[in-house]
Amino acid sequence: MKKVIYPGTFDPVTNGHVDIVRRAVELFDEVIVTVAKNPTKTELFSVEERIEMLKESMKGFPTVKVDSFGGLVVDHARQVGAVGIIRGLRAVSDFEYEFQMALMNRKLADDIATILLMPHARYTYLNSTIVRNLAAFHGDVSGFVPPFVEKKLKEKFPKKSL
Ligand code: COA
Repeated sequence: MKKVIYPGTFDPVTNGHVDIVRRAVELFDEVIVTVAKNPTKTELFSVEERIEMLKESMKGFPTVKVDSFGGLVVDHARQVGAVGIIRGLRAVSDFEYEFQMALMNRKLADDIATILLMPHARYTYLNSTIVRNLAAFHGDVSGFVPPFVEKKLKEKFPKKSL
């Protein structure tokens, strides 16, 4: 039984993240998408809201679970019995950061591998900040996030009646 975790901020989950999960479920028996309780980032959605959006977005994948973690990602991987950490690599610009993080995580836990997966090229420019900005100005996010996330973004940024 090969289990991996896919950690991230997921504020909110995008179609790019879903694309990575779709690839990971082909390779591993169980994928745990795990929300980082990350105090260094200013977040739009609470951890509970991000978990809810992830659960909705992962409904088509029976081998995916969703949870959250605080502290070190390798400690969480160990706690749930994961053999590795999935990360997405969208462009060369992601590489240095991911490489550094992978080597540090290996130093901390040599038995936990980092697996870098590339999403479809159509998601190379996508991130959660762009989605949040677009939604804040009532732009169309339907091509970038699952329908439930689009609904939640509309609730966060309601159009004021004139
Ligand atoms: N599609 C679309 N966007 C993607 C994506 C994909 N496939 N993959 C990543 N992104 C975006 C995210 O939306 C996010 O966008 P944002 O910055 O605009 O919000 C950005 O890329 C960063 O990705 P994310 O996966 O959320 O990484 P992060 O750098 O915020 O957090 C953690 C990474 C949580 C895994 C890391 O900080 C961590 O492990 N923290 C715990 C502490 C620890 O163990 N530290 C030691 C490691 S050295």
